[in-house]
Amino acid sequence: MTSMDCFEKQSIVVNSELTPTIEVTRGQVLEVTVFNELPTDWPQVTEGITVHWHGLDMRGAEFYDGVAYLHQCPITPGTNFTYRFTVDETPGTYWWHGHAGVERVDGFYGPLIIRPNGTEALAYDEERTLLVSDNFHGEANAMTFGLNRPFDATKQTNASGGWVWVDLPQSVLFNNRGMFADCGMGPYGNAKPIACKPAAQWVPPGRSEAQPWAAPTNKGCARYNLTVEAGKTYRLRVINTGSLAYQTLCFEGHNLTIVAADGYPTKPLVVSCLDINLGQRYDVLLKANQAPGNYWLTARPQFRPGSAAGYGVLRYSGANASALPASPAPQPDTLAPWTLAQLNQVRLSADLLGASANRSLAAHLGPNGLSPPGAAARVLLLNNTQPLLSSGQLRWALNNVATYKTPSCQPTLNQIKAQPQYLDQHARVSAEKYVNYDMLQTGNSSEPMVYMADSATPQAEPVAGQQFVTVGGGDVIDVIIQNMPANANGGDYRPGVGNNRTAMEQHPFHFHGHHFWVLGHGTGRWNASAAAGYNLLDPSFRDSYTVFKDGWIAIRFRADNPGLWNLHCHIDYHLFMGQKVYFLEEAGLISQPPPDFPACPATCTYNFAAWAPG
Ligand code: C2O
Repeated sequence: MTSMDCFEKQSIVVNSELTPTIEVTRGQVLEVTVFNELPTDWPQVTEGITVHWHGLDMRGAEFYDGVAYLHQCPITPGTNFTYRFTVDETPGTYWWHGHAGVERVDGFYGPLIIRPNGTEALAYDEERTLLVSDNFHGEANAMTFGLNRPFDATKQTNASGGWVWVDLPQSVLFNNRGMFADCGMGPYGNAKPIACKPAAQWVPPGRSEAQPWAAPTNKGCARYNLTVEAGKTYRLRVINTGSLAYQTLCFEGHNLTIVAADGYPTKPLVVSCLDINLGQRYDVLLKANQAPGNYWLTARPQFRPGSAAGYGVLRYSGANASALPASPAPQPDTLAPWTLAQLNQVRLSADLLGASANRSLAAHLGPNGLSPPGAAARVLLLNNTQPLLSSGQLRWALNNVATYKTPSCQPTLNQIKAQPQYLDQHARVSAEKYVNYDMLQTGNSSEPMVYMADSATPQAEPVAGQQFVTVGGGDVIDVIIQNMPANANGGDYRPGVGNNRTAMEQHPFHFHGHHFWVLGHGTGRWNASAAAGYNLLDPSFRDSYTVFKDGWIAIRFRADNPGLWNLHCHIDYHLFMGQKVYFLEEAGLISQPPPDFPACPATCTYNFAAWAPG
C-alpha cells in the first residue's frame, strides 16, 4: 500500500521504492533485471509487466523496446527478464515506464538520467528531478475493463456495465507527493482494501477544490517541498509522468530557463510557467534569486475543467519549515490559464551544437550538420478520429484503423521476423502508401479501408486491427498528424453516424525509436502548401509533441533505424483505445530476437472482452 496523496491504494513499487531513478553514463551497457513479484490474486488480472525506455532510440536493441505483445510478451509474476543494451544517446533526461495495458496508473515508472562520459557545458550548482503526475485512485486494470465495454450513452458508469471514461484524476503529485482533492475512486470501485477519510475532513471549510492544508499525521503523506539555497542555480529535470493531463507548472516569483527538451539541448528560452505534456521532459534552470522564504509551486492540468491542481512549496533553506507561503494559495481556476502565446513547445528551437554526437543524431542531420535533412521522400498523412466501431466499441483511430487487438500468442515483431511472407500476404498497399494488415483473426486477410488523405468525408467503416507503415532505405519521411475537427456527429466522422462525443482534444504524440524534427504546426486542415512555411533551419528535435485540437503537426525523421516503432498518443487511455500506428522500419535489417525472451502465456487468455461484466 502507498499513500502518495494521503489516500491508501495499491501501487507497483520497485525495490520497495516508488519511481526509482536509473542513472547511466553514455556508452555504458545498461543491464536491468526485472523480477515480477506482483501478486496473482487481484481480481481478473494477469499482472504481466514490461519496461519501455522512453526517449531512447534503441539502435541495435530493437527487441528491448518493451512494448507488450509488440516486442515481447509480458514478464509474468514469479518470473524475471533482463534488458541489456548499450546506451548511445545524448546525455539528458529520459524515463522508463511499464508498457502493458495502462500500468503507469499504478505507478510503474521512474526517471532515467543519462550522464555524459566527459564534461558538460551547462553551468549550474545542483540538480533535482521533478516528476509531475496526475494521480488516479482507481486501479489500472479496472479502468481498461471500463474502456473496453461497448459504448452506450445511457450506461456510462461502472455499475451499469457500459463504456466508462476514467474521468478526472483525484490529485496531482510532485515526486509522488500531494494531497487528494477528491477522496473517491472515480468511476471505479472494486474489492481491494482502501482506507480513506471522507473528503469533508480534508477540504478546508468553504472550499470545494484542492487546497493546501495541514498534512494528516497518520498517513505518511506530505506536501512536496523543493528546498533550495539562496543564490544557487538549480537544474530541474521535469518529467510529466501522468496518464491523462497536460500540466502547466509555475514557481511563484521565479522564472525558468528551458535548456533542453526530450533529452536534447535547446536555445535557452525564459518562461514564467512551463507547459509540459505527457511523456515530455524539460531541463530548466531555476535561480534561487528571490528574497529567501516560501513560495508556491503549482501545477494546473489544462483542458480538463474541474481537475484538481497540484500544490507544493519552493522553500529557501532557513525559511520557516512549517509555514506556508505568505501569499494565499491560488485557487485552481486562477492558476496559469493556457494560452497559445506562452506555449514553450512551439517557441523552442533545438541547439544541436550543444548536443554530443551519437549515431541517431548524425543520421538526422542535414548537410550543414545542424538542420533537418531534406527533402522528404514520402509524406504520410495520419488522420486522427474517435470512431464508434460497429462492435459498439469506442476507439481512437488513425486513418480509420484503431490499432487495437487482443494480444496474440507471439509478439508481433517475432511474427514478422519469423514469417516475412506474413506481411506480404496480408499487406494492403493503398494509393497513399499505407501498408496494413490485421492480426485479430490470424490467417484472415482483412482489408481495412484507408481513410483517404484528401477526401473530406471518409466513406469507410472504421476497423480495429493493427496498422503498419513500412519505411526504410534511409528515406527522409514526413508525417503529418492531423487532428480532425469534430463534426455535428461528434467524434465519429462518418456522415450520419454520431456518438455525440467530441473529439476536440489535444494529443501528446510519442514516437519510439526516433527523435524527430517538428517542421511545422497549424490549425485547421493541413495541405501541401503548408510546407512553404516549415522551419528547416532550427526546428525543435523531440520525441513527444502535442497536436492541439483541430490542428496538425508535421514531423520529419530519417528511416534508418531497424525496428518496429510505435507512434502513439501518450494519454494512456487513448493508447489503450487504439490511438497508434506501427512503423516497420528497415525490416530486412532487424536482428534476431535474443534467446531468453519471456514465453507468451500458453493459453493466450488475455482477453478483455471475456472479462467485461454484463
Ligand atoms: Cu512513453 Cu510508448 O511510451
